[in-house]
Order: sequence, then C-alpha cells, then structure tokens
Amino acid sequence: MEQIRDRVFKHKNYNFLVGHTTPEYIDSLESFEIKDSDVFVVTYPKSGTVWAQQIIISIHELHGNQNKYSNNMERMPWLEYKTAEYTLLPSPRLFASHLPEHIMPPGVKEKKAKILYLMRNPKDNVVSFYHFSKAMADLDTPRALTKCQITGCIMPLYSFASSWFDHVREWYLNREQYNILFLTYEEMILVRSSVKKICNFLGINLTEAAISQVVEKATFQNMKNDTKANYEHLSPERFSGKFLRKGQIGDWKNTLTVAQSERVDQVLQEKLGDLPLSFIWE
Ligand code: A3P
Repeated sequence: MEQIRDRVFKHKNYNFLVGHTTPEYIDSLESFEIKDSDVFVVTYPKSGTVWAQQIIISIHELHGNQNKYSNNMERMPWLEYKTAEYTLLPSPRLFASHLPEHIMPPGVKEKKAKILYLMRNPKDNVVSFYHFSKAMADLDTPRALTKCQITGCIMPLYSFASSWFDHVREWYLNREQYNILFLTYEEMILVRSSVKKICNFLGINLTEAAISQVVEKATFQNMKNDTKANYEHLSPERFSGKFLRKGQIGDWKNTLTVAQSERVDQVLQEKLGDLPLSFIWE
C-alpha cells in the first residue's frame, strides 16, 4: 500500500479512498466466493453506474424479486467497500464496482456470474468526474481540469480509481474470460433497447408492459426524484452535489477547450487505437 494523499491510498495499482476500504479487504477479494447467480455492474466512475443500478434492480423487481432495501446502494452495494455481510444478501446478489479487471475476484472468471461493463465517452466522463470531485468531501477539489487530469489520466492522479484508459483497456482485453456485456452510456440513452439487451443478457423475460415500467423508472427526471435511486441518502457533509447532475451526451463541449478535446482524441488513439473497439460516443 502506498499513501498518495491523506484520503487516498494506492493498492494493487489502483487508488482507493481511505476510510471506505482497506488493503486487507481488497486482498480478501481474491478468495471472495462467487455465486453463479451474482450480477455485477462494473464501470469507471461517472460512467452511469447509478443508472445501470436502477435498471438492473428494477428488472429484478419486475421479475418477482422482492426488494426490502431503502435505497439502491443497499440492494446493489459496492463490492470494494464492505457495507454489509455479503454472504447474507438475497439471491441474486447484485453488486456495483469500479474495480479494474486485475482486482476482480477470480471466481467471476468461471463465467457463470454476469458482468455489465458500462463505458462512457472519456470527455464526458472527465467533466462529470470533475463536478463530482467538487461535491465529494473525500476528494480533493480541483480548481479546474488540469492538463494531467485530461490527458495522462482521465482522471486525477490523486483521486480514487485509475486512468479511464487503463480501466477500459484491461476489461476489454480480458473480456473473453468473463460472461460480460459491454454497453456504452451513449447507447443507454436509447433506454428501451438497452433494457431489452440487459434482460436478454440476464436471461430474464419481461413483458412489454414490464419493460415500459423499467424504462419509466430509469428516466433522468424520475431517477432524480426517486429517493431510492438518487443517492440523496448520503449526508450533505459527505456529498453536497447531485449524482443526477445533467445526464447529457456531449456536455464536455461546454467545458473542454478545443485543444483539450484534441489531446483526448490523441491519447485515445495512442492507448486504445489498437483495439477493435467501435465506440459510439456521438
Ligand atoms: P453527469 O455528471 O454528466 O450528469 P455514476 O453513476 O457512474 O457516478 O455516473 C453519474 C453520471 O451518470 C452523471 O452524469 C449522471 O447525471 C448520469 N446519469 C445517472 N442516471 C442517469 C439517467 N437516468 N439518464 C442519463 N444520465 C444519467
């Protein structure tokens, strides 16, 4: 473990927030027991995790799984922060995670548990992360997006997570070892077809009426007002912004300069240009 800042430590080449998890707990994930029915949403932070959480939880509710939890974070907790006794969670267990592929419990590779990997245009991602950092007490408040945040890392060297490029690259390169569905935030804007894709992946058959209910619950406006989904249960001392901030594609155009945007394109090409990824950003 390497202390990066008062509130950030590096372990296994990934930055974690002090007080939210420990190196010992992260090490214990190597023997974390995976169940065939487990479902994970894995994302780089600010890619639309809470959105995917809402969709997956709603799909399971409409499929008849009872949900006694008061918010989505309890029904679908973060794997890397032990907020409950995970062996006691109802089946199917639903988890969210920002973990890079190399820290994921190896048991997931047995290919029965399912992973939805959600990606977002790194330009929108970094802008969303920037606003999030301003609102999150545990994170340093950047005065502006620096060159390093945009180019080398997407996102901060001193924040949690790693670089967007490493996260996407590693998950993509190792995809064949997992039962994994890649989706983009940009595709999710077409909510109905994304819900159908996710149902199909989960092996869950819902009626058209039930799919409409999932879609309705997942609109930006409805999620913003849904106390189970909007993360407003977090104390204002800890988080003073909105998880449902703008919810738009292309908001980066209001923040990044032309030079910054071109630099991201260049780094994207350098770091991921060799992969047969056809990103649907625009
Ligand atoms: P913005 O900050 O650009 O608004 P995460 O859940 O990974 O932290 O990602 C948060 C981002 O997803 C925020 O982006 C948030 O507004 C967006 N988001 C969450 N729910 C959404 C929805 N139903 N529709 C569109 N965007 C959504």
